[in-house]
Amino acid sequence: MTRPIIAPSILSADFAKLGEEVRAVDAAGADWIHLDVMDGHFVPNLTFGPGVVKALRPHSRKPFDVHLMIAPADPYLVAFAEAGADAISVHVEAGPHIHRSLQTIRALGKRAGIALNPGSPAALAEPLIDLVDLVVVMSVNPGFGGQSFLHSTLETVARIRAMAAGREIDIEVDGGISAETVGLAAAAGANAFVAGNAVFQGGPAGYAERIAELRAGAQGHGRGETLSC
Ligand code: DX5
Ligand code: ZN
Repeated sequence: MTRPIIAPSILSADFAKLGEEVRAVDAAGADWIHLDVMDGHFVPNLTFGPGVVKALRPHSRKPFDVHLMIAPADPYLVAFAEAGADAISVHVEAGPHIHRSLQTIRALGKRAGIALNPGSPAALAEPLIDLVDLVVVMSVNPGFGGQSFLHSTLETVARIRAMAAGREIDIEVDGGISAETVGLAAAAGANAFVAGNAVFQGGPAGYAERIAELRAGAQGHGRGETLSC
């Protein structure tokens, strides 16, 4: 596999000092910064909007991977693009016009992503596969950090990897990623890994070590069991 992408989710960071936290994970080796946007409607939690994304932008040059857990998403795509998102992912479950959302994101010059809840079949990605640069497979029900990895979603990852064959599409697993589960997600075909609690728990002194541990786990040298496929 090419070098695994580790994307710390600032949902688990200290919200009282987000700029500092972004600088710390950047310096610790994060490949992307994952930003979880929640609206208290599509998911049962609230986080932040484009104003916070814009405020964080000067703190890192790493790609900003914006995961929208909001419905509707379309009215906010321009604002997130202008705030400095590099990739914007919209849930396929968030509305009837995901195809239009993806067209809009690409027209804005950003990487377009879809996100799939654990209860959604991989087949939902099929008609969209030529319009996406990124597929986010949720391995927990979205809304909160620190939940347990749902193993049933590995099959979804494998199906999407097969569907994406021959295309340059990142497959990102989001939720419950740890030194133990990251290898399973990698073996199933994911190449990008969101990690909230696994990176941020314990504080900044351990960020570099925990990111390195996740990367090693994704490469099959970690603590976790890996599937042979
Ligand atoms: C959940 C979010 C995730 C979350 C992951 O709705 O989309 O990005 O921050 O947190 P962990 O890694 O702690 O499961
Ligand atoms: Zn996320």
